[in-house]
Amino acid sequence: MPTQPQNPSLYERLGGIYSIACVVDDLIDRVMNDPRLNANPAVNEAHHRVPPPGFKYLVTEMVGMAAGGPQKYTGRTMADSHRDMNITPKEWEAFMDDFQQSLDKFKVPATEQEELKAIVNSTYGDIVVTEPSNA
Ligand code: HEM
Repeated sequence: MPTQPQNPSLYERLGGIYSIACVVDDLIDRVMNDPRLNANPAVNEAHHRVPPPGFKYLVTEMVGMAAGGPQKYTGRTMADSHRDMNITPKEWEAFMDDFQQSLDKFKVPATEQEELKAIVNSTYGDIVVTEPSNA
C-alpha cells in the first residue's frame, strides 16, 4: 500500500531542508564571489559586509518556506533588503546563471528546477530596478 502522500510538496520532492541548504550554500558562494554582481559597488559592499553563514541561513529559510516546508522566514522583505542596491536586469541575469549552475551541480530534476525558478522570478519586481533613476 502506498504510504507517500499523493501530491508531495516541492519541499518534499527536493528532499527537505538538507537538500535545499546544500543548493543555497553553493549558490551564495557563487553570487558573493561573482564579478558580474560585485561590479555594482553597493552589492560589492554588502557582499563583503554580511557573514556568509547568516546570509545562507536566511535564504535557506526563505526557500524552505516558499517550497512548502515548515520554516518561517525571519529576514527582511525583498524590497527592503535590495532597495538601495540598484540591481539591474543584467545583474539579475548573472544571478540566474549562478542559480542554474547550482541547480545543475546538485542534479535537481527539471520539474523542480522550473518550480524553484518560478519562486525566484516572483521576487523580480522587488529586487530589480526597472526604471532609470534621475535622482
Ligand atoms: C541580482 C540578484 C541579487 C543580488 C545582487 C542580491 C544581493 C544581496 C545582498 C548584497 C544582500 C545583503 C543585504 C544587506 O544585508 O545589506 C541580500 C540580502 C538578501 N537576499 Fe539578495 N540578491 C539578489 C537576489 C536575491 C533573490 C532572487 C533572493 C531570493 C529569492 C534573495 C534573497 C535575499 C535574502 C533572503 C536576503 C537577506 C535579507 C535580510 O538581510 O534580512 N536575493 N541580497
